[in-house]
Amino acid sequence: MSLQAPENSARIIEAARRVEAGELVAFPTETVYGLGADAANPQAVAKIYAAKGRPREHPLIVHIADQSQLERWALAIPLPAIRLAQALWPGPLTMVLKHRPGAADACLGGQDTIALRCPAHPMALALLRAFRGGQGGIAAPSANRFGRVSPTTAAHVREELGDSVTMVLDGGPCEVGIESTIIDLSQRRPTLLRPGMITRAMLEAILGEPVGDPTDHSPRVSGSLLSHYAPSVPARLLNAAALDRATATLTRQDAVLSLRPRPPTLVGSIPWIALTPEPRVYARQLFAALRALDVEGVSQILIEDVPGGSDWEGIRDRLQRAATAPDKR
Ligand code: TXA
Ligand code: MG
Repeated sequence: MSLQAPENSARIIEAARRVEAGELVAFPTETVYGLGADAANPQAVAKIYAAKGRPREHPLIVHIADQSQLERWALAIPLPAIRLAQALWPGPLTMVLKHRPGAADACLGGQDTIALRCPAHPMALALLRAFRGGQGGIAAPSANRFGRVSPTTAAHVREELGDSVTMVLDGGPCEVGIESTIIDLSQRRPTLLRPGMITRAMLEAILGEPVGDPTDHSPRVSGSLLSHYAPSVPARLLNAAALDRATATLTRQDAVLSLRPRPPTLVGSIPWIALTPEPRVYARQLFAALRALDVEGVSQILIEDVPGGSDWEGIRDRLQRAATAPDKR
């Protein structure tokens, strides 16, 4: 495992050469860490599926250096896609568009659409610019085992994937903390396939039209399996009053993710993390908090429900999935 901090441009160039040679490289993005491979190399893309234990029918996001690369991968790019790319790229937004046949076929999971994103993390952008002279695409799912919580630090990546990834670029903790918002623009009406910190309200303000929810005809998203993003133990979502009642009878097997500080009356060594009730700060810390609570001896995580509204939609989505038992997949 070659992991050195601080990262320098020589390491980023080495990472780009490795991806060009068909190897996997994990790298930071502003949302979560990604596990990258050359999107145009089917053998390299196959290594991603093997390392993650991810079913082949789940498509991958292809990361590109800038908006000018859209046409290399997508066809019939609609005006709303240009508008969103201009307003929000580089940034935590993925757009699903009609696929250009022959480009990155191994990443599509058998669909006729492609998911494209230009990430805002300086190290991710430097890697994309160094890779094939900025003209390539790096397929990158979150660098976790299939169905688990996404990594937001380089150490999380190593915990998740161990020796199956030989190079991890360390860009420190991710700023955004939950995965990118995914909007489908391949059909007549824009639909929100995965909510995130670029909110539905922000998208609607730019597009000047409503952004709907997925229907039976929408492309599939593996994140829409109900129990995606789950810690290894069951999680339960509780409102503030229910959490207060539960607090009276907590045992050493419980852990708590709250919006409020640990009550001074709580005795014993019960893990309790209080996250700031501000969505951007909360999202940044959420996955690390779930990992920290998911420890030896804990058999359930109680999670205090977050406020309603568009700003919290991405976070609510992840909490609901974390709280859904794996047998509901
Ligand atoms: O923030 C992110 O998007 C991170 C970083 C690394 O960029 N990536 C990420 O990738 O979350 P992943 O593979 O964990 O989640 C990508 C989601 C999956 O749910 C997948 O099904 C969906 O995007 N997806 C990919 N291609 C698609 C397509 N053509 N149509 C519909 N959904 C697609
Ligand atoms: Mg993922």
